[in-house]
Amino acid sequence: MAGRIPEDFIDDVLSRTDLVELIDSYIHLKRAGKNYTACCPFHQEKTPSFTVSPDKQFYYCFGCGASGNAVGFLMDYTRLGFVEAVELLARNLGLEIPREETPGQAPREDHQPLFNMLEQAATWFEQQLRNPKVKDRPVGYLKKRGLSGQTAKHFRVGYAPPGWDNLLTALGTDDKKRNHLLKTGLLIENDQGRSYDRFRDRVMFPIRDNRGRVIAFGGRVLGDDKPKYLNSPETPVFHKGRELYGLWEARQANSKLARVVIVEGYMDVIALAQYGITYAVATLGTATSQEHVEKLFRHTEELVYCFDGDDAGRRAAWRALENTLPCVKDGRQVKFLLLPEGEDPDTLVRKDGTAYFEGLLNEATPLSEFFFQQLGAEVDTRTLDGRARLASLAKPYLEKLPESVFRELMRQKLGEITQLKDISLDAVPATPVTPPAAPPQDFAAEESARPRPSQRAPFKRVGKTDTKKMEVPLIEKAVRVLLTAPQEAARVNVPDDIRELNLPHISLLIKLLDYLRHKPDTSTAAILGRWQSEDEGHVLFELAAQEFLLPHHDQTPELEDSLRRLRLLKVEQDLDQIIAEGVKDKERFKQLLHLKKELST
Ligand code: UTP
Ligand code: MN
Repeated sequence: MAGRIPEDFIDDVLSRTDLVELIDSYIHLKRAGKNYTACCPFHQEKTPSFTVSPDKQFYYCFGCGASGNAVGFLMDYTRLGFVEAVELLARNLGLEIPREETPGQAPREDHQPLFNMLEQAATWFEQQLRNPKVKDRPVGYLKKRGLSGQTAKHFRVGYAPPGWDNLLTALGTDDKKRNHLLKTGLLIENDQGRSYDRFRDRVMFPIRDNRGRVIAFGGRVLGDDKPKYLNSPETPVFHKGRELYGLWEARQANSKLARVVIVEGYMDVIALAQYGITYAVATLGTATSQEHVEKLFRHTEELVYCFDGDDAGRRAAWRALENTLPCVKDGRQVKFLLLPEGEDPDTLVRKDGTAYFEGLLNEATPLSEFFFQQLGAEVDTRTLDGRARLASLAKPYLEKLPESVFRELMRQKLGEITQLKDISLDAVPATPVTPPAAPPQDFAAEESARPRPSQRAPFKRVGKTDTKKMEVPLIEKAVRVLLTAPQEAARVNVPDDIRELNLPHISLLIKLLDYLRHKPDTSTAAILGRWQSEDEGHVLFELAAQEFLLPHHDQTPELEDSLRRLRLLKVEQDLDQIIAEGVKDKERFKQLLHLKKELST
């Protein structure tokens, strides 16, 4: 296991990186006063609204709301993962990445020798398809399956000849190399300590990682032997539940992946690619995991699950749906396509062609419809009982959805189908969530002199009562102050009683304040970096953007004032509760009244 990159190191990388220089190396930036601008690389536009602040070291697009620091830019622009983005920045700076080791764990191993060995093996397997002594049967088989030489090359298809020690002899020329072969799973050691080739007389499909490195293989028999496919075991560089066959190849073939199709088999990915559908991937004989889905959504906004129409395919689709729900955010689309029984993408695209298959993909069933179709098949929605049962079946699934417009639509749809008006999902606001539109009504009047770059409210107003409406801006304001002047905010005392306050986003504020206490010399960029990959990160970016053009002045009084008002709220909440319970503890009641008076001044 690779250790975590220490947070201090990430901070250090961010503080040494010049964001303007970094972004300018990808898109041309123009100076505009204190900041730099360009046409936004994340949406189509004619006049530049993408702005980079050299002071705050972060960027913001006033058009589409894209925002982030150096790490975020690399992740969004080059589609790197978080760790890879940090690695790239560190490399640019010539820094070595330290890894935190969890106690008791062996120090991080250098996997490079394993990658080298896997690469050599892939090349060797490829060569066997040209080796006159062994190539006839596999080449015949691949031809029979209609694979073109070009496709075979693109996927680096190879062949492991029959025999126990072909690879062993070719590549395992010393103890060290044999050891590496063992660790990659290409060799197996028997009870007597003798090693032999794992893959024998099989067509070989190398599995590549995010960076195109060979990390494992799948091997198919030429005939009807069992098992039909053999995969590399889990190794230090290969974790089945995380990898997707064909993703690297798909990324190579497309500058942008408008959609990704998830199919069941190696040959499905390959056949589709040969027919011009170069955006298919397959899980490796495992169910689609949430990790798979998150990985795919880093590269595309539309997923189509394409499974066989038999029972196994249906089950696989439902499993995929379950693991996809937590990842369905607005703007992401998920569809399902169950093929006619007895067909798979490989046979279908060969028989009916590219246009037909793409037609099927375009007509695939949206997740929402698929979900209710499948659940509806289990109950009789004509009866009241059946509808009630549907509601209770659906509820736990809908609860897995992140709060979003999509979730609200699903809830409404369930209400329509079941004709039960009030499908209450605990965390769902009672009032429909509308897409962000209205500018925050909070301090708008008070601060009308200030520029308001973003018209969107980063905090959702979920409060039902009028008083609650006032409280959210309070937290919002505190967070904004904290982002603008983190070093001063670090000096402010955090009153303990607000920790228990029952308000949306209070935990974000507390986390930020605690963070500042431990890192009094932090910067806006470092804070944003720390929250980059967290759900609440976007909230921070939008708030930071609102403070973009403000002069830097000591805002601690404002923060202290917000905190005082939050404490007051907490006291009021406690009072409400104590009264609701019939004032059993008179002493506490008096204390609270006293505190309320003190805080109200
Ligand atoms: P299928 O049995 O649907 O194979 O397995 P396929 O892709 O249609 O195979 P062809 O067309 O006969 O070559 C789907 C996937 O399940 C995994 C493999 O990843 C395969 O691509 N699998 C299947 C195994 O890992 N082992 C097996 O024995 C069979
Ligand atoms: Mn098949």
